[in-house]
Amino acid sequence: MAIFPDSTLDSERTIEFEFVRATENAALNAMHWIGRGDKEAADEAACDAIYGVFDLVDICGEVVIGEGIKDNAPGIFLGDKLGTWKEGSPRFDIALDPIDGTTNISKGMANSISVMAGVLTPPDQKVMKNIPSFYTHKLAFGPTVAKAVRDQHIGEKLLDWPMMQTLMFVSMALGKRMGELVVLVLDRPRNQKIIDDIRAVGASLRMVADGDITAAVAPSLPDSGIDLYVGSGGTPEGILTATALRALGGDILQRMYFRDEAERAELAGELSAADMKKVWNAEEIVPGDKAIFCATGISDSFLLPGVKLIGHTAITHSILMRAHSRTVRYIRAVHDLEHKRIRLRSDPSEHLI
Ligand code: FBP
Repeated sequence: MAIFPDSTLDSERTIEFEFVRATENAALNAMHWIGRGDKEAADEAACDAIYGVFDLVDICGEVVIGEGIKDNAPGIFLGDKLGTWKEGSPRFDIALDPIDGTTNISKGMANSISVMAGVLTPPDQKVMKNIPSFYTHKLAFGPTVAKAVRDQHIGEKLLDWPMMQTLMFVSMALGKRMGELVVLVLDRPRNQKIIDDIRAVGASLRMVADGDITAAVAPSLPDSGIDLYVGSGGTPEGILTATALRALGGDILQRMYFRDEAERAELAGELSAADMKKVWNAEEIVPGDKAIFCATGISDSFLLPGVKLIGHTAITHSILMRAHSRTVRYIRAVHDLEHKRIRLRSDPSEHLI
């Protein structure tokens, strides 16, 4: 039995460029807020631009992974609708973070992107899985390590091994000496034990202050110089990373990480004992191959250069990829700001940036 009506079979292939238009506009509309100490305003500008693009796109998009829960910032939230919802339009599960790295933007620091993912979904079904905790403990690696994990049937155990054993496995898979292995961690007190363990083993440590999507995607990029990402960070960011890795061939293992006993107790009341300790891989989070992922750099990161303003021209850099074909497109767009107009939801008449 066909899961998708014929008319929507390959819809993610044609719609993907609207996704990248949305993250480009989000980056352009947010760039004015770089360094201005107002992360909410930057987030609001990005959300407004994303809504503005999708208000004209014929899809039935439902946000299944949204942001905003974290810090009450303005956002595009779980259950929000994107697209025109015209009858017969393809249905998409959507995950997005209009800005990952809002604090970085407000301080004028590196590592912020606008990011979206979509999965073409059969009518009345949800494809993308959510993990209910606020944070997950994450271990993300590139295609070579992912192959070694599969070939040696290591699976989820990799997440639970002592750090020394995990790092030895990764260094052997990559054919590197321990001192050459570069491990990236989100700089948080809760990740201190991991940081200490990495140092003790003699691997090379890198840290980011904020923005763990670019950090966790980095090991799957051939030229990032990062071999492994480990530590706990936001759950929506982990789901978005999983979508990217479905197209890049790497993997991310994740398990719920509880902020405190109250969160653990609340979730224990809702979930089975097995679900409480389940380790998710990227394929379980984003099953099938109907996923697209795109991001546009706002400030420079491992993944993408940020928006560059040269006179009246803005240059954006985006990445767009599709799990089905595993095509990875890098899109460099030159925007003439004397002519470029974008549409915002707050003001649907097209106007200059
Ligand atoms: P925001 O841009 O939404 O502030 O997220 C930044 C970020 O660093 C994420 O990349 C990361 O997953 C999360 O915050 C970590 O949360 P916390 O700051 O609470 O440790």
